[in-house]
Amino acid sequence: MTSRTAAADPAAPQVAARPRGGLARTRLGRAVNLAEVRAAARASLPRPIFEIIDGGHGDDLTRRANRAAFDQVLLRPRILEDVATVDTRTTVLGESASMPVLLAPCSFARLCDPGAERAVARSADAAGIEYVVPGGSSDLPEEVATAGGSLWYQIYLKQDQGVNAELVARVATAGYRALCVTVDTPGQPFRETDVRNRMSVPVTITPRLLGLGVRHPRWARHFVLGNRSAGFSLTAARTSVQRFTQTIGALRPVTATDVAWLRSVWSGPLVIKGVLRPEDVDRLIDLGVDAVVVSNHGGRNLDTTPTSLAVLPEVVERVAGRAEVLLDGGVRRGADVVKALALGARAVLVGRPYLFGLAAGGEAGVTRVLDLLRNELVSTMRFVGASSIERIDAELVRSEGS
Ligand code: FNR
Repeated sequence: MTSRTAAADPAAPQVAARPRGGLARTRLGRAVNLAEVRAAARASLPRPIFEIIDGGHGDDLTRRANRAAFDQVLLRPRILEDVATVDTRTTVLGESASMPVLLAPCSFARLCDPGAERAVARSADAAGIEYVVPGGSSDLPEEVATAGGSLWYQIYLKQDQGVNAELVARVATAGYRALCVTVDTPGQPFRETDVRNRMSVPVTITPRLLGLGVRHPRWARHFVLGNRSAGFSLTAARTSVQRFTQTIGALRPVTATDVAWLRSVWSGPLVIKGVLRPEDVDRLIDLGVDAVVVSNHGGRNLDTTPTSLAVLPEVVERVAGRAEVLLDGGVRRGADVVKALALGARAVLVGRPYLFGLAAGGEAGVTRVLDLLRNELVSTMRFVGASSIERIDAELVRSEGS
């Protein structure tokens, strides 16, 4: 795998993200923020497919609260700073990044676009950021790795330890840089929306789905023909997403013994995703973990957990510099990135927005999402008086009401 090739020139940020290529006249090209990219995806996808990606668990409270938590944090601009140039570059676990953002591991990329994870990987590489390839990816880890870039692999453990050992070895051979263990998914979560929509996971090509595709011809064409041109038959188009179920269906809880075992067989950075309690931190550090991701899985697994932003400061305090702390859940604005960093995160992961970009415009759509986010980040940093990532600190924020 090559290392990342491109990073935006931080000294010359665009002020307004202009759509690249042929996007200009599309709904996606006209989108000026990630909420509008979501709207473009909503228009591009059959509703049940959109809801598989967008939906949360239970009453959807945590998913919505993740987002609202950012609105409760206010920015306190520092004045008299020279912010003529703003540098968004940072490092995450020793690797340079053009901005403190990673793409979160999200299954279902192939439901959005036949380019699937490879399209996402190319876009992340071009943007100079890392992509955490999901354990339930539709393409094999080796296939995604051919797209290039600096990649992490998110692993879900199977019952058979021999299979797990083989997977870890394959991921290492394919050149993945870090291993990310998701610990908040001890089984397949029950999502009412999907039941209501009569969508089973994996999504199979049924007459009903094809019927829904009539009103979304671009999506239907891509979903069916895209899979076929990639050498799959109609049934195999189904199997490409079945890989996801083979993974998810065989999910088992991750224990401390598993983390110790993974630490012994994986020599690169080891990251634990799904931490919500400071009480769990010491044990993870003792087990040799290099970073934790404060995450409630985007509110998809268990409703009414705290928001990631709310628990971030407690986790950061407990970690006390012994590991890096990342956050995901509800990041939709450049200002959100600044707020998370001000509260102690090293970087954030973004999930749904890039799948929405992928659905609305393929690889160029993911790039559009990253351009919009980067421009907002640059603008926010300038207006809060932070010319570099190091200048983002707790002084720049306060909570609503305080
Ligand atoms: C996810 N997420 C996820 N996480 C993970 O560790 N492995 C996975 O396979 C998936 N799959 C997945 C699919 C879809 C459609 C979504 C939306 C999310 C969770 C993801 O990594 C991340 O934690 C959240 O998406 C972050 O929240 P936002 O940015 O979507 O609000």
